[in-house]
Amino acid sequence: MAEGRKKMLVTGASGFLGSRIASFYRDRYEVCVPSHGEMDIADLESVKRVFDRICPHVVVHCAAVSDVGACEREPESSWKINVDGSRNIAQMSAFHHAKCLAASSDQVYFGSVGTEPHREDEELRPGNVYGREKLRAEEECLKVNPECILLRLSWMYDACVIREGEHGDFFRILAANLKNSEELKYPVHDRRGITDVNEVVRNMEQAFQLKGGVYNFGSPNDRNTYETVVELFRALGWDTARLRGDTESHALAPRNLTMDPGRLQGYGITFSPTVLALGKNGRLYFSI
Ligand SMILES: NC(=O)c1ccc[n+]([C@@H]2O[C@H](COP(=O)([O-])OP(=O)(O)OC[C@H]3O[C@@H](n4cnc5c(N)ncnc54)[C@H](OP(=O)(O)O)[C@@H]3O)[C@@H](O)[C@H]2O)c1
Repeated sequence: MAEGRKKMLVTGASGFLGSRIASFYRDRYEVCVPSHGEMDIADLESVKRVFDRICPHVVVHCAAVSDVGACEREPESSWKINVDGSRNIAQMSAFHHAKCLAASSDQVYFGSVGTEPHREDEELRPGNVYGREKLRAEEECLKVNPECILLRLSWMYDACVIREGEHGDFFRILAANLKNSEELKYPVHDRRGITDVNEVVRNMEQAFQLKGGVYNFGSPNDRNTYETVVELFRALGWDTARLRGDTESHALAPRNLTMDPGRLQGYGITFSPTVLALGKNGRLYFSI
């Protein structure tokens, strides 16, 4: 280890986000990446052991059951990881006076009505298990560690680095659909930000300066998902004739996960609008 470098403990470092954080910050921090086997976040004793050994200065907590469907199928075991596990990490960070930055999700807004981008201080009643777990995790983390910084992330993609065995992201799913289907359907009653994971990773360091609390942390988007993909196709110079607006999905309860960036911008942290970043990254991904 280079003298004087701060120790950054990253949980979930074998996952989509954690692996990118660990490799990006390796030059500036002594990055410690305990595996799931070494530190089960749901087990406070194993968390204590690892924190006592490493004594981190900063913690980036990315370990989770991130699959919405898996949480629906196994609510008890996912609660232990997403809620109890997050509380364990926040608590031990407080004990070691380490700044703790934890990944939350725009799914806390799932089920909220309206088409306006959501603000952090809205009253929330998430309509799915994952959203409820993430919201409860935020509350529990702040209870045991008021300095904890909870980042509500939106759906992320990486147009540059593709790792074996990773879960699908926007471009990989689009590429598979382009290959397998003539007609591509995207919902019109669905609004969400879609964010370049590399912007999330780069903005993390500035986020350490935030005061404890909850922050929307992703690209804004003022288009529905169908319009978003149409814009992407135009940016890539592709024919949009293959695209169809799916008017059935979410028709009875339109989904809006979009996030108001105002609070974060107040601290000088910004994300590119979804459509702009997708166009730029789409050219990279599809080598145009
Ligand atoms: N990816 C997205 O688009 C997205 C969007 C919004 C929010 N988020 C949030 O961002 C964070 C990172 O997501 P991700 O996509 O990087 O997740 P991911 O790829 O599914 O990775 C999850 C990580 O958590 C680890 N893990 C699971 N259970 C654990 C336990 N009990 N103890 C220790 N480690 C455990 C996994 O290790 P093993 O594989 O070894 O079990 C893996 O390294 C999560 O909080 C997620 O909810 C992600």
